[in-house]
Amino acid sequence: MKKNAIVGQSGGPTAVINASLYGVVYEALNREDVIGTIYGMINGIEGFLNENMMDMKPLEVNGELELIKTTPGSYLGSCRYKLPEDLTDAVYPQLFEKFEKYNIGYFFYIGGNDSMDTVSKLSRYAETVNSEIRFIGIPKTIDNDLVLTDHTPGFGSAAKYVASTVREIAIDASVTIVEIMGRHAGWLAAASVLARKFEGDNPVLIYLPEVAFDQEQFLADVQKAFEHTSNLVVCISEGINDGNGKFVCELASDVGVDTFGHKMLTGSGKYLENLVKDRLGVKVRSIELNVNQRCSSAMLSATDEKEAIASGSFGVQTALKGTTGMMIAFHRTDDADYHITYAPEDVNLICNQEKTVPLDWITENGSDIGQQFIDYALPLIQGSVKVPEAGGLPKFAYRKCNCSEPSKIS
Ligand code: F6P
Repeated sequence: MKKNAIVGQSGGPTAVINASLYGVVYEALNREDVIGTIYGMINGIEGFLNENMMDMKPLEVNGELELIKTTPGSYLGSCRYKLPEDLTDAVYPQLFEKFEKYNIGYFFYIGGNDSMDTVSKLSRYAETVNSEIRFIGIPKTIDNDLVLTDHTPGFGSAAKYVASTVREIAIDASVTIVEIMGRHAGWLAAASVLARKFEGDNPVLIYLPEVAFDQEQFLADVQKAFEHTSNLVVCISEGINDGNGKFVCELASDVGVDTFGHKMLTGSGKYLENLVKDRLGVKVRSIELNVNQRCSSAMLSATDEKEAIASGSFGVQTALKGTTGMMIAFHRTDDADYHITYAPEDVNLICNQEKTVPLDWITENGSDIGQQFIDYALPLIQGSVKVPEAGGLPKFAYRKCNCSEPSKIS
């Protein structure tokens, strides 16, 4: 008997998280010989608990599926929902009863470290009840901090956005501090170095969370930079910290925590803007790139989009081979030209881990990025994607409903 598939998205979105969704759905639709209905969970596993889901097949018929490829953000909606550590918790039988109800045989979850925690717990619980459901994680995160994979879909497009935005900011004749996402890993802030056109060009200073941030050293670095230019761009990661667990943004105000216990990092740029103003008496602006860097379609990397689709479809192929409890990882071959292969890696070794930028890729007392990073990141931002337009604006796919009544799903 055919089994049905279900796919969900979770955590912060990216510009290509829907390209991965496209990859899963497209591949699953091509395997109608073994896969029945393909469901989308609305708002991830949290929505699924309320049987909030939709049938994905109609999207193919009306052309929406094609549009999803270039639509940023989570088409299906997202969640940051942590399943209990205790696998004897009542939520697990509840979920598996629902999987049974909808005859689910294949489960795909597109997300980062926290989402892989969900895949890990569900696949471990499945083992305890001898369930045959295949649980596969499809990677995504602009933070690029997943272990056992060369990089993650979403990073390339966000890196391209950051680098091109910083190059534009540098054209403006002002002193600017740019705050870039990435949580505890500096990959995305490091990508600002790609904006630099020649040695000494902006961004002159780049600070990542991997190196303890010293305010006095920072002020001295800024002062020194003014000897060479009055048009200074400084890029910082949202996660810069003193090396003892205190984030710079916490010096400005209290930060809350999300359901996974992560501090919500924001405001370091503003704090440093005031510091430079007060201590150096210089006119300075700060810009927080904020959600733009993860939801802009303006700078989609064709390489990123292609790989996001490929990892989604490879996930379906992997599940159909009977594999479970794995995430689709990217392996870079040793070829002179950039080339990626896909392989399943144990999700239990990936979830809740963070891969940070190697310290020897950070130079100049922790205020610049080395050539190794540039060589690593450049292939990931290559190629651009034409986003369909309507009325002079990007045309995006959007869900016409917030939820599907379970009863309406055949
Ligand atoms: O994990 C992706 C990410 O965009 C981080 O870079 C950022 O710190 C976090 O999500 C923000 O999460 P939220 O949108 O839930 O506040």
